[in-house]
Amino acid sequence: MVANEAEILGSVAKNGFYDIDVDPTLDLFAEINRLKKEKNAVILAHYYQEPDIQDIADYIGDSLGLAQAAAKTDAKMIVFAGVHFMAETAKILNPDKKVLLPDLNAGCSLSDSCPPELFARFKAKYPDHIVISYINCSAGIKALSDIICTSGNASQIVNSLPQDQKIIFAPDKNLGAYINKQSGREMVLWNGACMVHEIFSLEKITRLKERHPNAKFIAHPECEEAVLALADYIGSTTQLLKYTEQSDLNEFIVATETGILHQMQKASPDKTFIPAPPDNACACNDCPHMKRNTLEKLYLCMKYEQPEIIMDETLRLAAKKPIDRMMDLSRQFGLI
Ligand code: 13P
Ligand code: SF4
Repeated sequence: MVANEAEILGSVAKNGFYDIDVDPTLDLFAEINRLKKEKNAVILAHYYQEPDIQDIADYIGDSLGLAQAAAKTDAKMIVFAGVHFMAETAKILNPDKKVLLPDLNAGCSLSDSCPPELFARFKAKYPDHIVISYINCSAGIKALSDIICTSGNASQIVNSLPQDQKIIFAPDKNLGAYINKQSGREMVLWNGACMVHEIFSLEKITRLKERHPNAKFIAHPECEEAVLALADYIGSTTQLLKYTEQSDLNEFIVATETGILHQMQKASPDKTFIPAPPDNACACNDCPHMKRNTLEKLYLCMKYEQPEIIMDETLRLAAKKPIDRMMDLSRQFGLI
């Protein structure tokens, strides 16, 4: 049966993706590669995607690397295997390209913790502050911000400002507190957090460290302060990956979403990577938003060119300014 446009759009509006069964005998890797060539598409994937998606992507990276890859690509179509704010950032940087997200419901708890209406009221209380926002936020928050940052450049961006510059940092209170501690500043923090990074169990990590005395404990700065206090190294997903590649040590306890372990293991097949245990019943550190994307949904979104990210132009232009500022600063720091 050939799908018509109304049927596809109806399904996307109802489910967040085109919900039809995919022939189980189809070689999805071959089909996706064929569609990539046919449509001049590039697949950008975050490290938290499932291994099959990482393996078929043209570029895998952290939020900074992905924003840069989106800014640089000359493909006609960008397929973003990540979450909504990432695809939205790609669209902000590429208004003339078609930007697809395999499942529109792939959101982000951190981004959701900061609604623009509430944040605008919060910001109004600090008229002499500038706003630095972590890229894990909606276009509405970006439009209310002066500079965007990622976990890969947040410290440098904050430190590039005069010490007496008053700053609101949103939406991640853990990353903000980490930078406050490092820089000796007192940035005003929005009270947001990531559902994956705030549930690591201090008690279980302490026991795990005792059982693996030679392991380095490495953590993403979205983790809570008490977890970060135990870490031998703190960094963005790319920085954590590089650290494990360059280290002479063989064992690592990793406090971030487990998707990154696929690349760590690929880069260092003889090293051991142990996911840091969370404090929940299912004992898993998967991001439920990132893991909404599947190879089937990736294939369907490329085939039917839906779901597509559509943006209001006024909002796009307002949200682009602080991203451009981040890109300029990152270039100055030699980070991109
Ligand atoms: P980075 O990719 O910048 O390390 O951020 C991790 C994350 O939580 C993305 O959602
Ligand atoms: Fe958002 Fe956390 Fe998932 Fe990243 S891991 S997308 S910050 S909920």
